[in-house]
Amino acid sequence: MAGHVDALYIFLLIVTGMMTLLIFVCLIYFAARYRHRPGVRAEQLEGSTPLEITWSAIPFVIFMVIFAWGATVYFKERTPPDDAAEVYVVAKQWMWKVEHAEGQREINELHVPVGRDVKLIMTSQDVIHSFYIPAFRIKQDVLPGRYTVEWFRATKPGVYHLFCAEYCGTQHSGMVGDIVVQEPAQYEAWMNGGSTGPLSVTGEKIFAELGCSTCHRTDTQGRGPNLQGVFGKPVQLEDGRTVTADENYVRECILDPGAKRVKGFQPIMPTFQGLVSEEQVNALVAYIKSISAAKPGHADEKSKTSASTAAPQIREEVQQNALPNAQSNGSQVQ
Ligand code: CUA
Repeated sequence: MAGHVDALYIFLLIVTGMMTLLIFVCLIYFAARYRHRPGVRAEQLEGSTPLEITWSAIPFVIFMVIFAWGATVYFKERTPPDDAAEVYVVAKQWMWKVEHAEGQREINELHVPVGRDVKLIMTSQDVIHSFYIPAFRIKQDVLPGRYTVEWFRATKPGVYHLFCAEYCGTQHSGMVGDIVVQEPAQYEAWMNGGSTGPLSVTGEKIFAELGCSTCHRTDTQGRGPNLQGVFGKPVQLEDGRTVTADENYVRECILDPGAKRVKGFQPIMPTFQGLVSEEQVNALVAYIKSISAAKPGHADEKSKTSASTAAPQIREEVQQNALPNAQSNGSQVQ
């Protein structure tokens, strides 16, 4: 983004610089040309339509150019490419915790390879912070209670400053780090050193440990919605609204399940607010995402055939399970 942002910024400097120059040249010229001279009476002029149209139309065109150009750059900067590598960032007083989808964790450092689109999915454990990489010309507030996103593609290997750009308490000025941009081979080597396994696998474990998998079953429809293939798709809610199952929606469902309940399901899910850390929520989101990742090619065919052949079996299973499930469910909830 740096090239685009700089080009726009230089354009603004040139336009405002020329305007300033024009104003001062006119000021000095008019001061000399129309200075007070003994015996010469000032002549009063009132209004000039051509002049007024000119000084309205020219700035209007210039401002519209700035607006269109700025909007283009803004939307480009705000829209991460779909295939970007995902990195989770958790801010806290006063450090940056980073977790790669592959499972690598870092503190106050972010390793990325040259030339790859990287999407940061960020949240805060306490107050508002801001993830700012001046060299990449990107900055985004990091808020408690929701995800915000920013993205970049590093073009040159090197180490770049990372700053917190939102006053967040005593050590705010020390909440800094490094973005380490490496050649792909170097990056692979770094990535292979001491990973704990992909984030989605960690998420799958947490999903099982917390008992999510007893209701959100993947083989058949349980008491909660089947989460396979849900991510990124529209979801019909009980109150008639339709929302997209994005990171923020999944997060909200974990921490405040009643807020946006899926149509056709009972409000039996307990909240996990306070029971799971930000890192665990991230892992869960990564897991939900991983079971919805589109398999290129015959995903449609596959779901069609499995739906037609497996349907009777599933129905049978549901009937068998319906009674004991419902009872155990009731006692659990109460
Ligand atoms: Cu975190 Cu300032």
